[in-house]
Amino acid sequence: MTGRHVLVLQGPNLDLLGTREPEIYGSLTLGEIGARMDREAEAVGVTLRHVQSNHEGVLVEAIHEAGRDGTLGAVVNAAAYTHTSVALRDALVAVDLPFVEVHLSNVFARESFRHSSMLADRAIGVVSGFGADSYILGLRGLLARLAG
Ligand code: DQA
Repeated sequence: MTGRHVLVLQGPNLDLLGTREPEIYGSLTLGEIGARMDREAEAVGVTLRHVQSNHEGVLVEAIHEAGRDGTLGAVVNAAAYTHTSVALRDALVAVDLPFVEVHLSNVFARESFRHSSMLADRAIGVVSGFGADSYILGLRGLLARLAG
């Protein structure tokens, strides 16, 4: 793979953004959020690889692939898997991929089961509660860290 790449990993049910609980997650679709991120990344010469899946193993394999192909880092909204997935945590740690955890909603202002994350302590940082801007802020934070 040539060029500077960042993985944008989207977990279960995020394919429904736009119609899914818009009072919590906003009205933008995943494609619209991705296009915003693409513009942000292009401005600094970075290409994004967008992966969304409702299947944990597909997300694990996307992380493995990023570990093999020279991907610089990842913006990760693991959605519900954030709170449950030892497998995603282990994959991110195994390939040593720098990542930022993002959430559209403020998970700490919601049900208590959303207050814990299997990923957060291994993340560069966490952005939660800014809607679609969480992704932009997370991407900027990741790129700033990668630039050293
Ligand atoms: C979410 C928050 C999670 O608790 C939830 O399961 C999601 C989306 C967010 O972006 O706010 O699916 O990650």
